[in-house]
Amino acid sequence: MLTGVGAAAAGGLAGANSAAAAGSAATAADPVTPAADPVALGPAADIPVGGGKVYGTAMVVVTQPSAGDFKAFTSICTHWGCQVAAVENDQIICRCHGSRFSATDGSVLAGPATLPLGSTAVAVKDGQIILG
Ligand code: FES
Repeated sequence: MLTGVGAAAAGGLAGANSAAAAGSAATAADPVTPAADPVALGPAADIPVGGGKVYGTAMVVVTQPSAGDFKAFTSICTHWGCQVAAVENDQIICRCHGSRFSATDGSVLAGPATLPLGSTAVAVKDGQIILG
């Protein structure tokens, strides 16, 4: 059973957010952080190829860099903690100060952010995006 969308997702990504806030040396090579419990976010059809969707309550951004290849990252910018705003042209965009991150691996494409977005496990089941 899939329950607790916001709480479970927040718990699963809390480590990544805390590490960024504390200024730790997270890298793109850090292991994927699993969510505490699987969480259904919504229809996979909502995620365009080359784009993505920010799930604000769950504090996650889901992207689809190529058809059928879904990725999930914390939606909290590693610069000063704004929630990222959008995914355009394979880039996750924070409008607070203009940082851009790769929609494929969360790495920094443009600062001021210097640390990547933490990733988390994501899958599609019965047409639904499942986090964890
Ligand atoms: S908080 Fe995202 S660029 Fe500053």
